Amino acid sequence: MTIRITGTGSALPEKRVTNFDLEKLVETSDEWIQKRTGIAERRISDGETVSSLAARACKNALEMAGKAAEEVDLILVATCSPELLLPCCACQVQDMIGASGAAAFDLNAACSGFLFALNTANVYLQTGIYKNALIVGSEVLSKLVDWKDRGTCILFGDGAGAAFLEASAEDVVYDNGRRAGIECMIQGSDGTKGMVLSCAERAVNNAFIPESHTENPYIYMDGQEVYKFATKQVPVCIQQALDKAGLTVDDVDWFMLHQANVRIIESVAKRLKADLARFPMNIHQVGNMSSATIPVLLDEWNRSGKIKRGDRLVLSGFGAGLTYGASVMVW
Ligand code: COA
Repeated sequence: MTIRITGTGSALPEKRVTNFDLEKLVETSDEWIQKRTGIAERRISDGETVSSLAARACKNALEMAGKAAEEVDLILVATCSPELLLPCCACQVQDMIGASGAAAFDLNAACSGFLFALNTANVYLQTGIYKNALIVGSEVLSKLVDWKDRGTCILFGDGAGAAFLEASAEDVVYDNGRRAGIECMIQGSDGTKGMVLSCAERAVNNAFIPESHTENPYIYMDGQEVYKFATKQVPVCIQQALDKAGLTVDDVDWFMLHQANVRIIESVAKRLKADLARFPMNIHQVGNMSSATIPVLLDEWNRSGKIKRGDRLVLSGFGAGLTYGASVMVW
């Protein structure tokens, strides 16, 4: 059996917000932001929602895979910024694209969300429960960001990416001897450090207790703690995934990492002793879109033909939770 991605898609809001635009909002500079993060601009929603972006990305992925929406078995949306608590975003997407035969639900693992969704869908397909799945990362973080907090507002952007995962009965083996599909996955969480990157929902409030108010409804981040966690944990989990698959860093063509900060990606490359040229990046143009960063990057590199069938990819995400993971696949 082969389980592989046969279509990718993405959707970004039209509105570009540059570092120079942010200079007008908070005490910061283009130079500081570029030097500390690598980000030059990001897309910010001027009305598009998590579900509308997700639906657009899904349509693009299905078109590439040559599938009709009615044929989709499972829709899994990873998001931490849905516009509704009920119904879940995946059900909204199901309605918007007309995937009448699909089961649909959301998953929240913050910036690791797409990776966790991919791994979850992979298990459903491996067990034969479903034959295909649309997996999506979609975020409108701009509504969760305090636009007066220069420590966070410079980092995030809005967008969505999707991938269509399909199982087929036969094994697909490429000329280079590699067998298509997901070879290995590692996932982990450390809830004890959860509050270093957090965002509150409504406080407990009901007819039987005095009224209470959520203190800070915006994203809170201890940037240095998150930075330390990412630079330490990501290379470890990538190495663990490679060890588990019996592979080395040299067997990998592309390391597709969550796009949070160029310096984090550079540090991971250094620790793995891997050439930075094998770490695709688009953070300069789109910023950190949480669960959407990996699928948007994947779509960009897939559509431009930079990833080829037979290439080996490591996808690795990390973020709030704290959550982290890595998946190794032959494209
Ligand atoms: N513009 C200008 N100055 C800023 C600034 C901004 N946007 N944000 C913070 N500063 C200032 C600080 O106030 C501090 O000033 P001080 O020295 O006078 O106190 C100085 O810059 C250094 O701040 P610090 O927080 O130590 O900077 P840093 O090098 O750690 O960079 C981050 C900050 C957020 C870029 C960095 O910590 C980071 O990328 N962390 C990981 C965040 C992340 O990836 N989150 C998402 C994970 S999914």
